[in-house]
Amino acid sequence: MRKNIVAGNWKMNCDLPQTRSLIIDLKKGLEKGFNCELMIAPSHPFLYQAFNSTSDTIIEVVAQNVCEAQKGAYTGEVSVDMLDSVGIKTIIIGHSERRDIYGETDELLAAKTKTALEKGMRVIFCCGEHLEQRQAGKHFETVTQQIEKGLFGFTTEQMERVIVAYEPVWAIGTGETASPEQAQEMHAHLRSFIASKFGEETANNTSILYGGSVKPSNAAEIFAKPDVDGGLVGGASLDAQSFLDIA
Ligand code: PGA
Repeated sequence: MRKNIVAGNWKMNCDLPQTRSLIIDLKKGLEKGFNCELMIAPSHPFLYQAFNSTSDTIIEVVAQNVCEAQKGAYTGEVSVDMLDSVGIKTIIIGHSERRDIYGETDELLAAKTKTALEKGMRVIFCCGEHLEQRQAGKHFETVTQQIEKGLFGFTTEQMERVIVAYEPVWAIGTGETASPEQAQEMHAHLRSFIASKFGEETANNTSILYGGSVKPSNAAEIFAKPDVDGGLVGGASLDAQSFLDIA
């Protein structure tokens, strides 16, 4: 069975004291219990500390990025072995900010995903269309191509460790969300596309998260859709109470 997941993508927002205090606030709110997995993605320098301070909780600390190469002369990069050595088991790959600001191509993202999956990690693989692509009626095609190029080179066993995040770029950080119907329509499309390559069982076991201005006020409606298995949350995850309310 696929899992419900709420993941907080903290992006480049918190320094060490802010990371510490956000984790303290999150831990205070964990007593009530959750029927989903909870993940947080702090910045690389704070992963070790975040991992240690949450290891007695249900919170999983995940990474925002990884290098496609294993080791060596890659100044400024962080390898999958480094992440593994500090306890990280899940990595976000292909966020639209990586694609758009840093020019990460489908080929590079497939290589990063390969590195992570071969290490036994889980991957949160992001996809999503720009506004112009939706307006031109090319949103299904765009997202399908991102999934095909990024994920279709893997085995079914590897695909079982992939979580997909559908994040329409026009909804990220804009306050505008896809309607629950738009999210459901794309998630169902993605699930059947995954089934066409990996089979129904794998597709049904794949968690597909929605991301793009998820807030406490809209999460319930979006997450209630049958093919939406939770969310990848940016801005609203920087406030412990709003993240926990979403979860
Ligand atoms: P947002 O970001 O919730 O701030 O729109 C989502 C994301 O980029 O993962």
